[in-house]
Amino acid sequence: MKQKFSDVSAFRHDPLRLFAQKGFGSSAPLVQLNLGFKPVYLVTDPLLARAVLKTDEAKIDKGYLVQKLRKVIGTSSITMSGPEQQKRRAIIHQHLARGIMNDYVPEIAGLIRRHAAFLVRENEFVAHDVTAPLALRIVASLLFGRDVLTSGDESALMKAVYTAETQMADGLFRIFPRTPWKAWRDYQERKLSREIMAVVVDRVRSRATSTSLLRAFDALNLTTEELRDEILLLLLAGHHTTGNAAAWVLYFLATEPGLADKIRKENLSLITEAGEVDPLRLPRAEFSLRLAREALRLYPPFYWFSREVREPTELGGKQLPKGTSLIISPWQIQHDPRNWPEPDKFRIDRTYNSPAYLPFGLGPRACVGIGLGLLELQLLALEIATACDVEILSEVPAPAPTPAVTLLPPRIRLRLRPRAPVSAVAQHTAA
Ligand code: HEM
Repeated sequence: MKQKFSDVSAFRHDPLRLFAQKGFGSSAPLVQLNLGFKPVYLVTDPLLARAVLKTDEAKIDKGYLVQKLRKVIGTSSITMSGPEQQKRRAIIHQHLARGIMNDYVPEIAGLIRRHAAFLVRENEFVAHDVTAPLALRIVASLLFGRDVLTSGDESALMKAVYTAETQMADGLFRIFPRTPWKAWRDYQERKLSREIMAVVVDRVRSRATSTSLLRAFDALNLTTEELRDEILLLLLAGHHTTGNAAAWVLYFLATEPGLADKIRKENLSLITEAGEVDPLRLPRAEFSLRLAREALRLYPPFYWFSREVREPTELGGKQLPKGTSLIISPWQIQHDPRNWPEPDKFRIDRTYNSPAYLPFGLGPRACVGIGLGLLELQLLALEIATACDVEILSEVPAPAPTPAVTLLPPRIRLRLRPRAPVSAVAQHTAA
């Protein structure tokens, strides 16, 4: 009985260490984790992980974790499956595809510059305190269109996102059920923030710009509540993911010798006569792209996710009963020395077509925001490195990240010093 729960404490307190202990060097493609009565395996072999993720959802799906999520964030394309999910996913996918994202490049670059112009006046700042709200603002702007939300609307949405995130973290790592009082209070808090959010969505629905994602959802005839849940999902999915990785992008710009110069030089080859990045040249911008990819290799925001076997299945030489949970940890796979030489080291000379690179997942439920996530990280690197010198004020190497719902960066304290006079940065921003 005790044996069945022997990994629970390690999983709650230091999942990265548990994944490292169980995964690195294990010759078995599936390693058992003792997390309760149900069988749970860590999938350590990247090829097997890919096969699991690509398996038809009728055989292996997202499983019980989704039920937990649904309680907190409602029913949306991350917590549904089947034809309705596929329809919604297709709309989001189409809208966030890299080709369409190109039209948003000036908008996203503008938001980054506005933040930079503000930050150069600060004596210091904590990277993640800035990058997470920036990521949220970028997603909100794609969802609704530029300047559609008032600051009151924005605060209501942020409140709903933070409430959902806090409750997700609490639910995910909880072993004992909450007291009825705490459960009731959480429910009330969730209900209130989602009701307020529905009012905002209903109000801005008609004002959303014709190119916004909200308008694209019109084709689905969703109710206000359904639309609200989709919006909450997208704000959540695009927040502590890109926001976390962006903090590491700034950290590497500050600490990797010669990196910022390379990115600056790259920027020169990308800008048009108007001084804007040409989106069509971005996929060939190798240094900024590698910086983004390496940050996601070292610190994948979704450091683990899971699947559940829906029918008895043979996998990795084991016969798995229905209900078996499979944990895939991009962090473990991307730090395993068998997959990556010098796995803990930042290296700008890597290539990422390895099967052991999975920061966005894979298969029918892979991230739909890949194009947007990479674009944001690349633009952040290009805009900041070009306009500013990034100085690190906290310790190097940085302390380890904190594994919560996502892999949260430590308090990386930075200072931005304008390379051009502050007035020029501000002028550029206003343009
Ligand atoms: C660097 C940033 C990002 C990373 C590393 C990331 C990672 C991931 C991963 C690993 C999954 C799959 C989880 C699983 O298989 O269970 C996922 C799903 C998802 N992501 Fe992202 N994501 C990022 C940015 C974004 C952005 C910016 C958006 C949109 C605004 C987004 C929207 C979604 C959605 C909607 C899903 C659910 C897809 C489905 O279930 O069909 N992500 N993301």
